[in-house]
Amino acid sequence: TGYTALDQGFVNTAATKSAITYIDGDAGILRYRGYAIEEVAQHSTFLEVAYLLIYGELPSTDELAAFDERIRRHTLLHEDLKRFFDALPHTAHPMSVLSSAVSALSTYYENELSVRDHDQIEAATVRLLAKLPVIAAYAHKKSLGQAFLYPDNSLSFVDNFLKLNFGTMAEPYEINPIVSKALDRLLILHADHEQNASTSTVRLVGSTEANMFSSISAGINALYGPLHGGANEAVLNMLGEIRDSGQTVKQFIERVKNKEEGVRLMGFGHRVYKSFDPRAKLVKESAEEVLAALGVNDPLLELAMELEEAALADDYFVERKLYPNVDFYTGVIYKAMGFPTRMFTVLFAIGRLPGWIAHWREANADKSTRIGRPQQLYVGAPARGWPTDR
Ligand code: CMC
Repeated sequence: TGYTALDQGFVNTAATKSAITYIDGDAGILRYRGYAIEEVAQHSTFLEVAYLLIYGELPSTDELAAFDERIRRHTLLHEDLKRFFDALPHTAHPMSVLSSAVSALSTYYENELSVRDHDQIEAATVRLLAKLPVIAAYAHKKSLGQAFLYPDNSLSFVDNFLKLNFGTMAEPYEINPIVSKALDRLLILHADHEQNASTSTVRLVGSTEANMFSSISAGINALYGPLHGGANEAVLNMLGEIRDSGQTVKQFIERVKNKEEGVRLMGFGHRVYKSFDPRAKLVKESAEEVLAALGVNDPLLELAMELEEAALADDYFVERKLYPNVDFYTGVIYKAMGFPTRMFTVLFAIGRLPGWIAHWREANADKSTRIGRPQQLYVGAPARGWPTDR
């Protein structure tokens, strides 16, 4: 009834209230449950951040230990679900594998998919946090044609994940603490970002009272796109193309400014941040530190820095308030860690999982949540009679 405002891309319309994450895009501020991202990244761990986002407060030492323990105990995948990977081509994009396998998870827990029972919601929370990294590592192993390893629950969340990705059946695997620490920090930086496209998707699907696995599978698919989480993969492909084509940074920037079809400066720009993306600052520091500590000298890092410098000095980018976002430097770090480009967005998904869960639970617990149902402005044909000559 009445007036419907058109707000394409939801630039002005709040679809919900939320108490999880605060962003001030003009000031470059990001806070998880009130804590500044800079402090969280410095002092916390990914699992502690997951707890904070989901339950609202920092855990005590005992609460964190119990949470960690529960997640460790749920890392195994059903043996039948492992065979699911056999049905997919080894060339499959790991993001498609991830969302399909998460969707399939709900088939294993059909008797505990209630959206009202607290224990079942807790169980889904723990299962997702425990199993998503394992599914992700298996998607990676599948693409390499290597055997899946069983999780090693004596290891921390991140170390277990690294071993599942880079260990083999043939040799013992040694965790590099630099890689482990850096990955944990990157996961923290991705853990939540209020109503981005994938989180809004999770909330929208959840608003139909769909279970958590189905809602989060939808979120993973939303994250896949290059304008969202897929940007980290797209950045590395862009850097590779610039290097291989022999074009200069200046030439590439000109192509972006001329809005050549399909040419954007990937990893730049953000709907909300208009002065800088605080995560991008922290990621850039990590990129320099991690590459130096690992002794990796990647010309793509130099190229990325050159591109950043050229863009920040250019009116096109200045006028539009385009700055590097979280995805600009992450790929260079993931590459140095040994991940193939197609795994980058999967790493984003593992990082974002606590945020998705926290939002699903917040919306689910909020009695004022209604099914999401946007309006449209109809611009099609007016009413007309069915042709009599048909
Ligand atoms: N390169 C070139 N021009 C750009 C870029 C870019 N990366 N981003 C925005 N613009 C231009 C755009 O063409 C438009 O110009 P004009 O006013 O002349 O038409 C203006 O800046 C505003 O852009 P928009 O597309 O209307 O902005 P948006 O808020 O709808 O989109 C965005 C935000 C992130 C999708 C966009 O900046 C973009 O496509 N960036 C590249 C992809 C990317 O890095 N995505 C990751 C986002 S951060 C983490 C995440 O969500 O995963």
